[in-house]
Amino acid sequence: MPKILFIEHNGKEHVVEAEVGKSLMQTALDHAVPGILGDCGGACSCGTCHVYIAPEWLDRLPAKGDDETMMLEAIAELVPLRAGSRLACQLPMTAALSGLLLEIAPEL
Ligand code: FES
Repeated sequence: MPKILFIEHNGKEHVVEAEVGKSLMQTALDHAVPGILGDCGGACSCGTCHVYIAPEWLDRLPAKGDDETMMLEAIAELVPLRAGSRLACQLPMTAALSGLLLEIAPEL
């Protein structure tokens, strides 16, 4: 199974096995990774699954949709955005993403 590395703000690392096709948000919840809440259940309407994707992985991800772009803009007043800011609920796991490194953004 492909693996993902989640990093908390305090530097604590969580390596988890990810099921292909499942969102990165749901993968984090399934493994009780702290800091990813997924309050809207993946409807792209809460921003509590905000993560910072490591730069070297960005071009392997699907492009942001309008909903994701608008949600990220909406939370920008509350948390810092980076070039790698994405919503984990909008990113399905693929075999090509094995080894993906992402940092959990500060809670809203
Ligand atoms: Fe709500 Fe991703 S879980 S925006």
